[in-house]
Amino acid sequence: MSVVHHPRKMLVTGGAGFIGCNFVRQILGEDPELEIINLDALTYAGHRISLEDVENRHSSRHHFLQGDIRDRKLLAEIFERHEIDTVVHFAAESHVDRSIDGPLDFIETNVMGTAQLLEAARSAWKGRSDARFHHVSTDEVFGSLDENGFFTEETPYDPSSPYSASKAASDHLVRAWARTYGMNVTISNCSNNYGPYQFPEKLIPLMIRNAVEGRPLPVYGDGSNVRDWLYVIDHCRAIAEVVRKGVSGRTYNIGGHNEMKNLEVVEILCDTVDALLPGEKPRRELITFVKDRPGHDQRYAIDAGRIDRELGWTPSVDFEKGLRETVRWYLDNEGWCRAVTEENYGGERLGQG
Ligand code: NAD
Ligand code: TYD
Repeated sequence: MSVVHHPRKMLVTGGAGFIGCNFVRQILGEDPELEIINLDALTYAGHRISLEDVENRHSSRHHFLQGDIRDRKLLAEIFERHEIDTVVHFAAESHVDRSIDGPLDFIETNVMGTAQLLEAARSAWKGRSDARFHHVSTDEVFGSLDENGFFTEETPYDPSSPYSASKAASDHLVRAWARTYGMNVTISNCSNNYGPYQFPEKLIPLMIRNAVEGRPLPVYGDGSNVRDWLYVIDHCRAIAEVVRKGVSGRTYNIGGHNEMKNLEVVEILCDTVDALLPGEKPRRELITFVKDRPGHDQRYAIDAGRIDRELGWTPSVDFEKGLRETVRWYLDNEGWCRAVTEENYGGERLGQG
């Protein structure tokens, strides 16, 4: 069914995390009639400080609730009290390395949490055709590519890590709720994001932070693994398009057309940090090859043809520009970095199995 959906009361889950906070900031700025209930458990990855400007600027249209997507009673209350017409579901445990160290949290939140959310929406909406559930997922559900080919929406699922397996399971649940209960759903599977507010455990912010502090830059294996990097703002634009104009029941792949080897990414980052904050020695000297991640997928690459053809979305920020903005943001926001990591992450290597 292809009808334009106009969200008015949106439940965003995980809106204090990296992509969620960027999405909330962007869509509230764009749509003056939209109201958002932002539900986030504030795990190690979610922080109210990432929403400070949003809470100041949009206090009448942004309502933050600390809570867990597995809490069915809380979900029922939210749907009833706020007459939610749209769900945009970001909340998840999101770091592959942490999923290697502790997979069960990923099953709990990503699988059970998504099931609870679907059930809450189903019972509140009772077959309403003007309500919509958008599930934010990853290209990692498709597994690993060799040097050729791209993931399309038809690529069979073949996840490698506990993280990607839990996201694959959640995607299947969302499709099952559509087929079985006729729920209006869309799914997007996106490649690796980078940009402001990303928790400094992921490749790009971790490397920026280490480079600035003169610490080793740990590249897994030989650095030849390939990821397709997309600026977070472009991902958020794509999600907004899918929510409004995506065909119910359909999946959209989102990617940056920007495949790069990890080593290349780290080298460009070193040069960008050197240019913005000259140091005594070139930061490239900090690059250190370390033991590979178990089950490390070799290559991800997205064919984003469907979302381009059907919804007119293409990425707008090129990698060099996006990376420069990102490095600048981290240099200007050292206080944010300190605040989000001080209690629970000291930059140590995770996920060695
Ligand atoms: P993130 O880890 O930065 O944020 C996740 C947020 O979810 C945090 O604010 C956390 O507090 C919250 N959360 C975790 N468990 C919760 C629970 N049980 N109840 C309520 N809130 C909970 O993750 P992100 O990078 O912003 O990713 C957001 C979504 O996008 C995830 O579903 C992820 O799988 C998907 N995704 C991420 C990328 C990427 O490159 N980061 C790419 C494609 C898809
Ligand atoms: P990451 O940001 O964890 O995203 P994902 O594993 O979901 O793709 O890692 C991106 C790539 O960078 C991945 O191939 C693993 C690699 N990597 C390193 O080489 N060193 C690091 O310290 C980290 C965190 C990741």
